[in-house]
Amino acid sequence: MPNHCIIPVFSHKPLFPLTRNSTGMQGPIRGRVSRYKYEAQEIFGRFLEYRKIAKMRDQGEKRESILSLLERIREESELLLNAGEAYTLYMCVNSTSKIPGDIAEVGVYRGGSARIICEVKGDRPLHLFDTFEGIPVIDSEKDGDAFQQGQYAASLEEVQQFLRGYGNVYFYKGIFPATGKAVKEQRFSLVNLDVDVYRSTRAGLRFFYPRMAPGGIILSHDYCESTPGVKRAFDEFFSDKPEPIIEMPGYQCLVVKLGGSRHSPKS
Ligand SMILES: C[S@@+](CC[C@H](N)C(=O)[O-])C[C@H]1O[C@@H](n2cnc3c(N)ncnc32)[C@H](O)[C@@H]1O
Repeated sequence: MPNHCIIPVFSHKPLFPLTRNSTGMQGPIRGRVSRYKYEAQEIFGRFLEYRKIAKMRDQGEKRESILSLLERIREESELLLNAGEAYTLYMCVNSTSKIPGDIAEVGVYRGGSARIICEVKGDRPLHLFDTFEGIPVIDSEKDGDAFQQGQYAASLEEVQQFLRGYGNVYFYKGIFPATGKAVKEQRFSLVNLDVDVYRSTRAGLRFFYPRMAPGGIILSHDYCESTPGVKRAFDEFFSDKPEPIIEMPGYQCLVVKLGGSRHSPKS
């Protein structure tokens, strides 16, 4: 479909529906913009999203098939990543296949991003951590008002059912990092953090950073001004570490663990 076609922008179901951040519904904007302004933003956001996908598609068959897969996953689950972010996650899993180590995700919700990981992880074990009762604790000073306690509650059984076709997938229900004990001897090639708030992000970094294999990737959602807790946790944690935080287009950041430091889990 040519780039200039605008029909999907106004269709009932856009090719890639807007996510929490692209709508601004979950953020501080909520309640502050008028209804008309909000609707205009939504239409414009859909238009931009559609243009982005159209451009990404225009890069050969391999991309086309990955994007189709991501679209299918979005249709089957309530994936909270936009198209570019889903693509980045897919590529991070794919590109770490030569790095020894397991994969972990903290912040599973209904299993949308976990499903992307499953599609491309191969035999690597995948450890999935979530309260399945929503965000456990918010520090309003650090997190602002973008999220609420209990937001994104989901059913563990439904997620297990959703991912039943994939092997080597393990679930840990409860508040991380307490649930991390089960994997404290593991080393990781990829960790996807999507926990929205300061304390959970800091806990994820403290736990996984020393357990990352050299070349392994920590990817996180919500590294942006509108979710200040996540950004603050990353900026503080890496202020005395050699790895740069790579800010991605969209709302993700990633860090590639440098070689040289030995795997030395402490707790
Ligand atoms: C935005 S949702 C994850 C979305 C999912 N990655 C996706 O793309 O579909 C954030 C999740 O983080 C979980 N969460 C936040 N802090 C947590 C913690 N300390 N321990 C376990 N789960 C946590 C919440 O329960 C929620 O399900």
